[in-house]
Amino acid sequence: MVSKTKKPSIPITEIEQSAFCQTDEDLASKTLQEEFEIGVQWQKLPISYMRTSPEQLSNNIQKAKKTLGQKLVILGHHYQRNEVIQFADFRGDSFKLSQFAAEQKEAEFIVFCGVHFMAETADILSTPQQKVILPNMTAGCSMSDMAQKDDVLDCWEDINDVIGSKSSLIPMTYMNSAAAIKSLCGENNGIVCTSSNADAAFDWAFERGDKILFLPDQHLGRNTAYKKGIKLNEMIVWNPFKPLGGHTEEVLEKAKIILWQGHCSVHTRFTLEQIRQARETHKDINVIVHPECTFDVVNEADLCGSTEFIKKAIVDSPAGTKWAVGTEISMVNRLAEENPDKTIFCLDSVVCPCSTMYRIHPAYLSWVLDGLLEGVVVNQIQVDQKTREFSRIALERMLSVV
Ligand code: 13P
Ligand code: SF4
Repeated sequence: MVSKTKKPSIPITEIEQSAFCQTDEDLASKTLQEEFEIGVQWQKLPISYMRTSPEQLSNNIQKAKKTLGQKLVILGHHYQRNEVIQFADFRGDSFKLSQFAAEQKEAEFIVFCGVHFMAETADILSTPQQKVILPNMTAGCSMSDMAQKDDVLDCWEDINDVIGSKSSLIPMTYMNSAAAIKSLCGENNGIVCTSSNADAAFDWAFERGDKILFLPDQHLGRNTAYKKGIKLNEMIVWNPFKPLGGHTEEVLEKAKIILWQGHCSVHTRFTLEQIRQARETHKDINVIVHPECTFDVVNEADLCGSTEFIKKAIVDSPAGTKWAVGTEISMVNRLAEENPDKTIFCLDSVVCPCSTMYRIHPAYLSWVLDGLLEGVVVNQIQVDQKTREFSRIALERMLSVV
């Protein structure tokens, strides 16, 4: 038995999140120097980039992109700011962007406008000749930071010690985790999933075992398992700061799903009260949320699905329909701008972007592209060989189940 009592710690990315919540501001980018004034701890840049206006940065990026031509591909997650996503050659959710990274063999440089775990995934799935760049190295993810490798290893060993050969435990990690966690899954007959294919990944896992350790988002794990007919009393939450995750051996033996105690700081802001208010204000509103939202919120919503699912549902809906959306605000605002014939708003009236996605300011994009023009690769994401090998196995399993 290896687990011990550890000191609970909150990731810095989680603490910083609230600094971004504003009641009356729009999300237009300012100079990086001005954005630093709220006390964020982002990667430092040469002062000239800090002071350049967003308009000038936009011109510079455009020119650099043109000069780099086919050598460069920019991938952008839907949660990116407008001033950045406008330069993406491909936009998508994390599943779609992984597919692009796996299929796209021509470009020498893949600049990933998203967060660290997504860039790691692109590095693992791309060819060894391609170089993946994350414009701001501090663009992490608080949920991913909640599952540290040593804690997950302790958990994995503890549960296996308890269940022995009586059951077979399949590790499954959400894409939103470090490559080391994906590697642990690949090495132990497990799989990666995204919110787009979590359902199919559960089927895959139950064809091979009778228990799932789901990392790191307890909400996606619970919402998906419940949808598959697993009862709430068959699921437990593993607290990494308590011995045996806070459970007895008997409870661990009985549980069908063991959920890591992680969450998304953005999606857990949505509440039943917000849904009630949206329904009261707009008679025929459709409430659509991401499965990282809490169980109650998902059950109260009309529809629930991945970022790509939300986008498609709204874009394909008839003119005049009304949508209250429980996902990241930059994406919701963009959907509203691009679908002016519909009423689209975020469930949460407080403007609260994902603080780590927001770290990709256009100044960083301009900086890394200027580096490439000078023959310097800055902020390359390189996963080590061993981690790469096993995480690739788990990621290829993910790409094969839809
Ligand atoms: P998607 O899998 O929907 O892209 O979600 C990524 C993410 O970070 C959601 O919080
Ligand atoms: Fe991480 Fe949540 Fe941001 Fe997604 S929205 S990158 S899970 S903090």
